Amino acid sequence: MHTAKGCITEIYLDGRRAARLSCPPALIPAPGKYLLAHDATDFNSPLPHPIYSAGTAPGGFYLTPPIPPNWQPGTELTLRGPLGHGFSLPESARFVALAAFGSTSARLLALLEPALAQKAAIVLLTDYPPAGLPSAVEISRLSALPETAHWADYFAIDLPHFSMETVLKSNAQHLNSVNAQVFIETPVPCGGMADCGVCAVRSRKGYQLACKDGPVFDVKQLIA
Ligand code: FES
Repeated sequence: MHTAKGCITEIYLDGRRAARLSCPPALIPAPGKYLLAHDATDFNSPLPHPIYSAGTAPGGFYLTPPIPPNWQPGTELTLRGPLGHGFSLPESARFVALAAFGSTSARLLALLEPALAQKAAIVLLTDYPPAGLPSAVEISRLSALPETAHWADYFAIDLPHFSMETVLKSNAQHLNSVNAQVFIETPVPCGGMADCGVCAVRSRKGYQLACKDGPVFDVKQLIA
């Protein structure tokens, strides 16, 4: 884990990314991992904000939405990380499925670059497709999950904590047959520093902390 300064260099409103951050290479989080970022001049927000990669950028990476509205080009941030466990795209994967059940598919889009580099076919399941995706990415609705799970050899899912049990239970028979990982979207206010327990996720091993044991888990760990 590293601590360093970073700087917002651009703001985007395209839904795929919220901003571009310049930072040292060691701070760039792998897909699914995160940094805790704090604007030392913002006295109204004492807690750090978790930030995730939507893809690498020259000199840093693109931030997934949302970000605090007062972060603007030139905002300097104190960064700590990378933290947590991210996605593990197998080098052998040639049929990659992504499914975004939350408000954004941006965290999953960080997997596009490595998946395209290994010449994988990619399907993104979302009911809110972002604009400007590479033409190599096929888009389907979330209702196509059953057949997509049988097509894929790797499946990455982004899921809000509140819908975790419902979605995984209703798709268990399909997801059990594929190498599937799930990002659990939940607040991580202390990033594991204070064991606050806010990020606790129920798993086969008992309660686990999304900030340290996740936020990406193997689906089979979470299916009851
Ligand atoms: S965020 Fe505090 S224990 Fe996970």
